[in-house]
Amino acid sequence: MDALEALLTRRSIRAFRSEPVDPALLHRVLGAALHGPSAGNQQPWRFVVIDDPQILRLLALDHPHASVLKACPVAILVCAETVDLHHPDHWPSDCAAATFSLMLAAHALGLGSTWIGLHPQQDRMAALRGAGLLPPEVEPFALVPLGHPAERTDQPDREHPEWIRHNTYLQPWGSGQG
Ligand SMILES: Cc1cc2nc3c(=O)[nH]c(=O)nc-3n(C[C@H](O)[C@H](O)[C@H](O)COP(=O)(O)O)c2cc1C
Repeated sequence: MDALEALLTRRSIRAFRSEPVDPALLHRVLGAALHGPSAGNQQPWRFVVIDDPQILRLLALDHPHASVLKACPVAILVCAETVDLHHPDHWPSDCAAATFSLMLAAHALGLGSTWIGLHPQQDRMAALRGAGLLPPEVEPFALVPLGHPAERTDQPDREHPEWIRHNTYLQPWGSGQG
């Protein structure tokens, strides 16, 4: 699967087969996340691989939209080391790039995933902190359950040419170009 096909066919997956994810596959997925862009190349991202079912169940209970964590064999906690960053305002953007790289790589390798948001919702971040998985200087950003998909999701129509403008927001892109 090439990059464009991966971008166009990835969908959030919330049902997984019970089989574990091969550590070699996880390694490749995390390798992709480590290659994302970051502000000033500061690379604040850190990743916690969580495959303890008890911890996954606990995290599912602590979040209003994360029951998928009870059904996945493994989840990645994307977090950031935020001490002494040159561009401290940008760590969430950096982590977002890493999160999506991870999800896209997973899809390209036949795995399913979902982005479970934590940052910037303080209650969700506090609940995650309450699980005692992170030291105080590390900020939680998102959870990404991963596994072999047990569902097929429809491809939505995401074509919105009218959302794309030309030179100025007031000018549709593509008009007058035949
Ligand atoms: C910042 C962010 C937070 C999200 N949080 C959740 C979440 O808490 N629970 C969940 O099931 N999906 C969550 N999602 C996934 C979205 O629901 C999903 O991406 C969206 O419905 C579009 O579907 P698609 O991923 O199949 O294109 C989140 C996605 C993003 C980008």
